[in-house]
Amino acid sequence: MIHLSPSLLAADTTHLAAAVQAAERGGANSLHIDIMDGHYVANYAFSPKTLSDLRRVTTLPLHAHLEVENPDAVLPLFAAAQLIIVQEDTTPDLAATLATIRQLGCAAGVAVNRSRLLEPLLPHLAAVDLLLVMAVEPGFGGQLFDASCLDKVRWLHQRRVAGDLNFAIGVDGGIQPATLAEAVAAGADFFAVGSAAFAGDPAAAVRALRAAAG
Ligand code: DX5
Ligand code: ZN
Repeated sequence: MIHLSPSLLAADTTHLAAAVQAAERGGANSLHIDIMDGHYVANYAFSPKTLSDLRRVTTLPLHAHLEVENPDAVLPLFAAAQLIIVQEDTTPDLAATLATIRQLGCAAGVAVNRSRLLEPLLPHLAAVDLLLVMAVEPGFGGQLFDASCLDKVRWLHQRRVAGDLNFAIGVDGGIQPATLAEAVAAGADFFAVGSAAFAGDPAAAVRALRAAAG
């Protein structure tokens, strides 16, 4: 069973409640909320208020994906999230960051960019709920899927089996039905999906994505 997390970056923010409720009807497992600060990425998106507003209109778990410089300075602002995802290259002490996220009562995720290596993350795999492989450069939706990210997915899958670990293996960026199927075959089981979830009817789109997983 895959986990589908529609990414609100692609939704019509003038009708956010309707968009998330349609995604929920279609069987979404959570909502992926990109937080962008104009520094770590050259774009802006969402804020802690988005989470508290959404909490009133959906019961889906809220995932905050922090694409910001110095996430340690703002983690408590996102305590309302069920899962906080940090970019591994934004924190000087990843173990401490993960511990802070847990102290806030949230599950912990780590995202890794295309140019980064996975080996340094090996000591942290037992402490994460989600390892999110970026298949695009963070900052914008609608980019093309970089299939080389599948090597990272395979590597993580091998480590998870060998280490008897439980973290989810996620992919964020460029996920469409066809790329989702490729990533599932490589061992991924969690997907943040922006444009493919919100381009048309989100309920139908989420169903189509789930069907693509086979
Ligand atoms: C990119 C974000 C993604 C984005 C994905 O920085 O982290 O979550 O919304 O959008 P698509 O699915 O359109 O590539
Ligand atoms: Zn994201």
